[in-house]
Amino acid sequence: MTPGHYETLLLDIDQDGIALLTVNRPDKLNALNSTVLSELESTVTRIREDDDVKLVILTGAGEKAFVAGADIKELNTLNSESGEELSRRGQEVFAGFENLGKPVIALVNGYALGGGAELAMACHMRIATDNAVFGLPEVGLGLIPGYGGTQRLPALIGKSKAMELILTGGQVKAGEAMSLGLVNGVYSTEQALDEAKKLASKILKNGPVAVEKAIEAVNSSDRPDGFEKEAALFGELCDTEDFKEGTSAFLDKRKPDFKGR
Ligand code: CAA
Repeated sequence: MTPGHYETLLLDIDQDGIALLTVNRPDKLNALNSTVLSELESTVTRIREDDDVKLVILTGAGEKAFVAGADIKELNTLNSESGEELSRRGQEVFAGFENLGKPVIALVNGYALGGGAELAMACHMRIATDNAVFGLPEVGLGLIPGYGGTQRLPALIGKSKAMELILTGGQVKAGEAMSLGLVNGVYSTEQALDEAKKLASKILKNGPVAVEKAIEAVNSSDRPDGFEKEAALFGELCDTEDFKEGTSAFLDKRKPDFKGR
């Protein structure tokens, strides 16, 4: 894939197939305006279709913010109809990351507020820098989280604490986010990208089809048909070359050579 020209995103793909996707509006703390949403949507489509991209690390430009939320300047003019439409649109774009079929790690490098926290929560894992701050401050704007926050935060940290954070609009620093289970690790700004890449390389050693199906199964964990889904995906994997290779390699006492099929 040739990295495209974006107004609000940077996309860099390394030789291991790790795409580093950066929301790039540092002067507005990477706030999500309609251009960012559209560009995130088209980038997800491109990444999905590109077999050379194995995993995504999503971050924000600059040292101050991952993403400071939806662009409040654009929100200010919404009415009930356009507000509902925008919420559905943001939900859909973020679901594109959640259902990408390739692992997505958020590298939360500063403020992750409102839509920024919601974007991080739509990713499969979160690595935070030690200056990261999470919060859903929407009630202070007379709103509620509209890009999935009321659904994903309770799933990640439990209903009681999620309710507290959403109703108070309070903020959580990196250390507390770690103890709540909201992030997978906290590192210094200098180390965090390397740590995200280390996590990525551990994932990429495994069978790619299995990783894809594991994401799908875990994404089904809060649905009524989650167990059925797990069994169906388990069965599907038993027909793959990677499954034969992985189990044969174990029995032969050698490392597997996965082909991703
Ligand atoms: N939307 C638009 N612009 C934003 C923004 C946002 N969410 N967050 C920051 N900015 C802009 C500021 O307006 C400012 O621009 P100017 O220099 O042109 O004035 C620039 O980014 C720098 O921000 P600050 O000067 O405010 O920086 P600070 O260090 O003093 O404060 C902050 C940092 C605490 C993160 C503060 O910027 C802030 O509170 N931002 C808003 C956070 C927020 O409420 N997010 C939720 C948005 S609603 C939402 O996301 C709804 C949803 O669920 C979909």
